[in-house]
Amino acid sequence: MSSYAEAFRQSVDDPETFWLDAARGVDWVDAPTRALDGSDAPTFRWFPDGTLNTSVNALDRHVQAGHGDRTALIWDSAMVPAKRTYTYSELLAEVATFAGVLRDQGVVAGDRVIVYMPMIPEAAVAMLACARIGAVHSVVFGGFAAKELATRIDDARPVLLVTASGGLEPGRTIEYLPMVEQAVTLSQTPPHTVIVKNRDSIPGAAADYKTSSAAWFDWDELVADASPADPVTVAATDPLYILYTSGTTGKPKGVVRDNGGHAVALTWSMRAIYDISAGDVWWTASDVGWVVGHSYIVYGPLLVGATTVMYEGKPVGTPDAGAFWRIISENGVRALFTAPTAIRAVRKADPEAAELAKYDISSLQTLFAAGERLDPDTYEWATRVLDRPVVDHWWQTETGWAIAANLRGLDPMPLKAGSPTVPVPGYRVEIVDGEGRAVEAGTEGNIVIALPLPPGTLTGLWQDEDRYRRSYLDTFPGYYLTGDSGYIDEDGYVFVLGRSDDVINVAGHRLSTGSMEAVVASHPAVAECAVIGIRDELKGQRPSGYVVLKAGADIEPETLRQELIAMVRDQIGAVATFRDVTVVQALPKTRSGKILRKTMRQIADHEQYTVPSTIEDPAVLEALEQQLGG
Ligand code: COA
Ligand code: AMP
Repeated sequence: MSSYAEAFRQSVDDPETFWLDAARGVDWVDAPTRALDGSDAPTFRWFPDGTLNTSVNALDRHVQAGHGDRTALIWDSAMVPAKRTYTYSELLAEVATFAGVLRDQGVVAGDRVIVYMPMIPEAAVAMLACARIGAVHSVVFGGFAAKELATRIDDARPVLLVTASGGLEPGRTIEYLPMVEQAVTLSQTPPHTVIVKNRDSIPGAAADYKTSSAAWFDWDELVADASPADPVTVAATDPLYILYTSGTTGKPKGVVRDNGGHAVALTWSMRAIYDISAGDVWWTASDVGWVVGHSYIVYGPLLVGATTVMYEGKPVGTPDAGAFWRIISENGVRALFTAPTAIRAVRKADPEAAELAKYDISSLQTLFAAGERLDPDTYEWATRVLDRPVVDHWWQTETGWAIAANLRGLDPMPLKAGSPTVPVPGYRVEIVDGEGRAVEAGTEGNIVIALPLPPGTLTGLWQDEDRYRRSYLDTFPGYYLTGDSGYIDEDGYVFVLGRSDDVINVAGHRLSTGSMEAVVASHPAVAECAVIGIRDELKGQRPSGYVVLKAGADIEPETLRQELIAMVRDQIGAVATFRDVTVVQALPKTRSGKILRKTMRQIADHEQYTVPSTIEDPAVLEALEQQLGG
């Protein structure tokens, strides 16, 4: 039996042995004697009697083992530009001191702390400092605007918010503090404290701000007066973080991650999936605001004592399409993990990879891709120009680590274009039809995972057990619903084709069409609207809005478009990249009033479709076909 098959079999037949064995890769205060607690099924807990501290595992243990001088983090900003390196001892000192700051501000274990930061080392320091004192961080991506930040504040109810004066995007500076001020003002449950890391290049300082509900402090001033905090031991089942992700409605889902299962799963994944160990240089080109950034910029690489690269910049234009290759060559990067959109952007700017020839990237063993489908064309191009394995793997915010992958450290398998390879040990992936019946190999259906999910996956949605069960567990009892559709071929390879719900994926960013619809519908001229994700050559998908005007509304289509773009940008953020607006006479609906978004998407993408039998008025679809289908 291959080592993959053996590991998978054991993970399914004897999960206790498999995961208790994996748990030995983690330093516990009280080592767990049991792996799985199924007493509250279908909600499961891992390592119910284990206790630990995640930040001790990421930092202290390596320093205590004599590796304090090893590089923990390399920060490279193509935007400033600047570079800074932290050894494990240095990063530990910064984290312990900032944990002292949080403690001095009254933050205790279990309290929530919002981290709204650009890609600077202090973002990782803030996350690890929370983990050190048992506080629960909730990182909000810097590309989200004030209203989205306020929504997350109201759900997480943080006691404190950590931010910076701003972020740097090509050609413009994003000032964070006016947005934080607005969010704190909008919020029903604002934090009592805001801490601001001032960046020299970006105006705005804590001293310039005052909100009635919160005191604002300067990061450096607080750090100068603080003493380091000792780590607080937490239960393996205690929450480490909440990360909000887009669901089908406008209200984001607060995915909760525990401490113990997370540390075990990520440690296991670094070696088995990515083939990365202590001392290796690892680079995830993403943002700490996404799950990929949580797991593989911050926690995963540090848990195994590797060096993590944190990059502030873009794959192209900062300054050119050689940015990725420069960083690999300067730092001896062994593996790079990025989103397919980033590879497509490099390809578009430099189709013959002329930039690549300027750098020595001999250290690079593997390019990993996730966040959206790695289309075969992009896969072939990257494989050709890099002459190395280009490895797709599939996962979600909810799972926190890969569901399907080609396990480079356990048992590398032949790669197939368009497939993230096989289910990772611990994940019993199946394909079912709408009634929950298993389908034959090669037949498309809903991708589901038999419960329990392995360690490291979500333990629930923040204070919303009901929504957790409704969203993931109720549709097919005994299974977790991924929301993706796809198939498994005769060789057991998984193919993920796309979402089967109204979540869209734009440039590797998961966005909700529901939240965009809520903004568009609030325009005074709009009677009703639908936002769908249509195919985009560069970004995979892009949002496209269809609007029915109120009777008598007198507005030029271009004026309406500009106003709607500005509203979405202002209320959700630039990252929504909402630009397409089409005025239509009516939206196609079922007799029960449900908008036929899937059919609209098929028409816009020029795909074959069948008219649903439940359609209210087929003429609406015909009119739409003429307008969009061309
Ligand atoms: N703060 C403020 N604004 C931001 C932002 C941030 N952190 N990130 C992006 N934006 C803005 C961009 O400036 C852009 O604004 P514009 O419309 O005025 O030009 C807009 O949001 C859209 O951004 P994006 O779609 O990301 O395009 P881009 O050209 O800035 O970058 C990529 C393209 C490919 C580099 C980028 O999308 C990317 O890195 N994607 C991968 C995402 C990822 O890592 N996902 C996790 C899974 S691996
Ligand atoms: P997120 O929660 O932001 O990581 O987005 C998760 C969603 O992105 C998944 O449900 C998929 O729709 C999509 N996705 C992520 N990785 C892949 C992949 N390798 N192949 C296909 N789709 C992917």
